[in-house]
Amino acid sequence: MNIVVIGGGIIGEAIAKNLVAAGYNVIVTEKRVERIRDLEKLGFKVTANNRAAVKHADIIVLCVKPKDVESALKEIAEEAEGKLIISVAAAVPLDFLRKISPKSKFIRAMPNLAITVCESFTAYSIGPDISQEDLKLAVGILSALGKVHMIDESHMDAITALSGCAPAYLALVAEAMMYAGLVVGLERELSLKIAAQAMIGTGKLILEGGKTPSQIRDMVTTPGGVTVSGLFELEKVPVRHAFMSAVKAAREKSREISSLICSSISEE
Ligand SMILES: NC(=O)c1ccc[n+]([C@@H]2O[C@H](COP(=O)([O-])OP(=O)(O)OC[C@H]3O[C@@H](n4cnc5c(N)ncnc54)[C@H](OP(=O)(O)O)[C@@H]3O)[C@@H](O)[C@H]2O)c1
Repeated sequence: MNIVVIGGGIIGEAIAKNLVAAGYNVIVTEKRVERIRDLEKLGFKVTANNRAAVKHADIIVLCVKPKDVESALKEIAEEAEGKLIISVAAAVPLDFLRKISPKSKFIRAMPNLAITVCESFTAYSIGPDISQEDLKLAVGILSALGKVHMIDESHMDAITALSGCAPAYLALVAEAMMYAGLVVGLERELSLKIAAQAMIGTGKLILEGGKTPSQIRDMVTTPGGVTVSGLFELEKVPVRHAFMSAVKAAREKSREISSLICSSISEE
């Protein structure tokens, strides 16, 4: 299976790396010369020629910034006729993609930065012309990047706000815990390691151990104990409200960007 990854930036490189490890034949296309050299040094097959790469590809993964989606798609439209294109561009709707390249088939996917360590949560939505075979191939590709979940496209802004932004939110929590460790006299590196491992561990308790967040809290909290003293202090700050407001604001921003992108094409 020949896959071309268009745009060898952070996400393109991570996708290419995971797909090569999963046994796919991958070519990365990139326009910046110095970036091409970097990618070649990392062992990737790289070209600046999008059209030639797409011509020999079975599936295309579009990894350019949202502002570059239109020009990249226009460039490859002819060679991509009838082919499946998985776009990971945030805030770029399926309708927009289909208008630019009506003869291609599209899946819109939203990974997050954890894709670089093969731990992405990738939500995806499919266009109306996607066959069962296309879907199987796409799920195979996206599963090489972490966990996958099909969603209705109407939820994509919410997914972007929650899942796409999650590494930034949780990095803030990790940093806060690191500072908390410093306050009680632990080394910086050790505190950060504890915070990160606790995130992995708590995630696994939920995903693999089947525990709910409240069950986990109850399991750690004994009457008059250490954890409840910590939670008592945390209750003074509206932690849940802060996250709810943050995700709501991020969803609004994603909607705003998405409608700007759509209006740019409807004005043409
Ligand atoms: N970063 C995240 O956490 C994240 C999460 C989910 C989804 N996404 C989506 O993933 C996409 C890529 O993000 P990124 O962070 O990897 O961006 P990035 O680092 O800027 O990578 C995009 C790369 O594509 C190159 N490029 C632009 N137009 C091209 C073309 N026509 N042909 C070949 N290469 C081209 C760019 O070169 P120039 O720099 O010279 O333009 C750049 O090197 C975006 O659409 C973003 O919305 C990102």
